[in-house]
Amino acid sequence: MTDGPGEQQQDQPARRGLTRRRLLAAGGGAAAGLAVGGGVGFAVGRDDDGGAKAAEAPGDAVLPVYGAHQSGIADTPQDRLVFAAFDVTTESKAVLADVLRQWTDAIVHMAAGVPVGPVAGHPLAPPADTGEAMGLPAAGLSVTVGFGPSLFDREGLGLAARRPKRLRPLGPLPGEELIPALSGGDICVQACANDPQVAFHAVRNLARIGRGVVVLRWTQLGFGRAAATSPDQETPRNLMGFKDGTNNIDTRDAKKMASFVWVGDEEPQAWMHGGSYLVTRRIRMRIESWDRANLDDQQVTIGRFKVSGSPLSGGSEHTPLALEKKGADGEPAIPDNAHVRLAAPEVNRGVEILRRGYNYTDGTDPASGQLDAGLFFIAFQKDPAQFVALQNRLGAGDALNEYILHTSSALFAVPTGFRRGEYVGQALFA
Ligand code: HEM
Repeated sequence: MTDGPGEQQQDQPARRGLTRRRLLAAGGGAAAGLAVGGGVGFAVGRDDDGGAKAAEAPGDAVLPVYGAHQSGIADTPQDRLVFAAFDVTTESKAVLADVLRQWTDAIVHMAAGVPVGPVAGHPLAPPADTGEAMGLPAAGLSVTVGFGPSLFDREGLGLAARRPKRLRPLGPLPGEELIPALSGGDICVQACANDPQVAFHAVRNLARIGRGVVVLRWTQLGFGRAAATSPDQETPRNLMGFKDGTNNIDTRDAKKMASFVWVGDEEPQAWMHGGSYLVTRRIRMRIESWDRANLDDQQVTIGRFKVSGSPLSGGSEHTPLALEKKGADGEPAIPDNAHVRLAAPEVNRGVEILRRGYNYTDGTDPASGQLDAGLFFIAFQKDPAQFVALQNRLGAGDALNEYILHTSSALFAVPTGFRRGEYVGQALFA
């Protein structure tokens, strides 16, 4: 198998012709026949129309779940996010592995746009699927599972010897005032979809399946994906109104993905090969201050023009930064403390990360009456040290610090992808 994202196209479990809508129109009989909780084998979703390509809108796509990597990393970011961190309450490795087996079965079903089990099953039993995604398309759902450092500290589980050497808590970093209850976690689930209800349904049903074994620690909703992952995509905007993701890693670039994102043979734990490290940072924006800053201030803070996204050193959006270029006043065109300069590989010994974050708003801060909104930053990298190096530099000197504060932080080891008949994280528990 090659390492490129396109690899996941093969061995795709799901059908394209069977949407939830069509399933229901067919009387739900197929749903009643789904294999749930048992083998991971995907018995459903065989084309019911001889394999004709479904007339689905692009946002309705069915993403492949099987492959060398988990979905939700190299795929084009969907519009919505529901992120959940869980703590493990069992001391039994076997019990936890069984939940992961059931989760995988559910993920395979939900990514295909079908319920995890009968919504209308036995009248005296709770429905196996909670039902709120009935009638909705698969909406490009991806579900990515990761394991936090604290999972390996749980003595009863006996996983200490399987801990990847780079999976250590991030430690204190500049620019943060972390809320412990919104940080960390033993296991994460990142659900992304083009419909918020589909993403919510995914996390809710996994939480329901895991009840008694895992307990939710914190969740975060995100909207308006705040990162492009290829220059072909229209670059989305973050809540500061700037294009975000212009200079992100292009996930179609297999060489870059291997250099910066996918864990390789350098990691002794084979269950991480083809995986990645996921960092989350809930970054609150001081929106009211930002909105009072004049356009020039905003642009020199970022180092790019607001509307076009072009570097202040000239050119158009995708023109490389000319960090050495000086303005008419003899000063650097992109100021020394501009965000893009301090984050650029040229000043970080070539370090790059894959950003895949979302905008968030959690209402208002009752103490100040100000909006609690910002960026739920998500980054994938082959070594958490990549993020740490960048944040150490940004937290110390970024002009953006006047307007932002990191309020939560988490790190997860995202295991390699899984194939038909396997469950997510299987090689760790084997
Ligand atoms: C609320 C916080 C943040 C905002 C509003 C923000 C915004 C931006 C914007 C507008 C750009 C320019 C467009 C682009 O190339 O994507 C950018 C670039 C970048 N940001 Fe951020 N960012 C934030 C936090 C962070 C953090 C925490 C990191 C990593 C620790 C980071 C790493 C980067 C990198 C690596 C680039 C590309 C630099 C280059 O090579 O040109 N950003 N960011």
